Amino acid sequence: MELINQTYQIQGLALTEIAAKYGTPVYVYDGAKIKSQVKLLQEAFASVDLKIKYATKALSNINILKLLKASGTGIDAVSIEEVMLGMHAGFEAQDIMYTPNCVAFSEIQEAVDLGVMINIDNVPMLEHFGKHYGNTVPVCIRLNPHIMAGGNAKISVGHIDSKFGISILQLKNILKVVEEYQLQVTGLHVHTGSDILEAEVFLKGAEILFDAARQFPDLKFLDFGGGFKVGYKEGDITTDIMQVGEKVSAAFQTFCQGYGRKLEIWFEPGKFIVSEAGYLLVRSNVIKSTPVSTFVGVDSGLNHLIRPMMYDAYHGVVNVSNTSGEEHIYTVVGYICETDTIAADRKLHTVSEGDILAIKNAGAYGFSMASNYNSRLRPAEVLILDGKDYLIRARETFEDILKHQVDIGI
Ligand code: LLP
Repeated sequence: MELINQTYQIQGLALTEIAAKYGTPVYVYDGAKIKSQVKLLQEAFASVDLKIKYATKALSNINILKLLKASGTGIDAVSIEEVMLGMHAGFEAQDIMYTPNCVAFSEIQEAVDLGVMINIDNVPMLEHFGKHYGNTVPVCIRLNPHIMAGGNAKISVGHIDSKFGISILQLKNILKVVEEYQLQVTGLHVHTGSDILEAEVFLKGAEILFDAARQFPDLKFLDFGGGFKVGYKEGDITTDIMQVGEKVSAAFQTFCQGYGRKLEIWFEPGKFIVSEAGYLLVRSNVIKSTPVSTFVGVDSGLNHLIRPMMYDAYHGVVNVSNTSGEEHIYTVVGYICETDTIAADRKLHTVSEGDILAIKNAGAYGFSMASNYNSRLRPAEVLILDGKDYLIRARETFEDILKHQVDIGI
């Protein structure tokens, strides 16, 4: 989004016009930004055999998946439905990594039948896998590296007390199962968390993977998960992707020399690829002053963007209907019957009833975490590509709210 001649635009299209055309609330995605983020990552890891497995859960519209496929990525899927969505969008089975957690073995079998790579994150499941498939189906193992890192406790998933991955202290247990069933372990995986800033955390994860990898002679790839930190606030320090690329690639090459074979290096970024490309456009319904605050009440809330409430996440907000003149401090709140503060104490150009606000960083974990709470409809989604706007998801209707309810005739 750029401010040109006092108008916020994406690829030359004014956001006020997008809001007028599609109504609010509406999620808007900048396809060019998504493509350039992919390119950046590809450049940062140009010296190694990089495979990007986009974390589908961040934003799973099939058009976004198709755009990513055209940019040369694969996907990481965390449910069988995401696997199916990826295939529906045109990904080949071999481009899909399935990283489930606490699913039934039957779901893993479904994924095997679809031909995707399975990433197993607990020993009992590895045993089931061994019993069923022996060495006939390749498998990846998700390790828990015991690293505490990430933006907040809820998104730090690589520490010793996390439910994810198999503890590196249980490597012996893994090796026992691998030997017993002659498992064909072609990949090892770690994902430390989300919003990770320092190259050192990725390097630490890499060292742990390298140590473990020496025990597995059939590897084809090492997967470092996702988690690159993007900017949310003006002046935020973000992951220096070039630096991470340089340092991790160098360590990876050294490892491969010792291992005796060139492996692929996989990453599964979600936020890095789509966070900054997305905006949630909302309309101000009411400006309400209290003795202590001025609230802007908008036609959206935690049902559409839960991150501020769930993680105390900061999302930048701008008034796209009024971009000059006086500024005031406002607290932007939703219309949900909860204290759904979207942004507290923000300086915005004077907000009037009917003004359109753009909430930033809404590309990742925005729509994909949206719900129908308060029986509200989920918003439309619009993709801007090559200077044109496309509706990629229709706004829900009241019929959608009733669709699966069964009236038993009371
Ligand atoms: N790989 C695995 C195995 C993951 O669990 C995740 C995220 C990713 C990759 C992508 O992480 P990213 O690059 O997007 O940070 N809803 C939270 C984030 C939850 C992330 C869950 N796993 C949020 O809105 O901050």
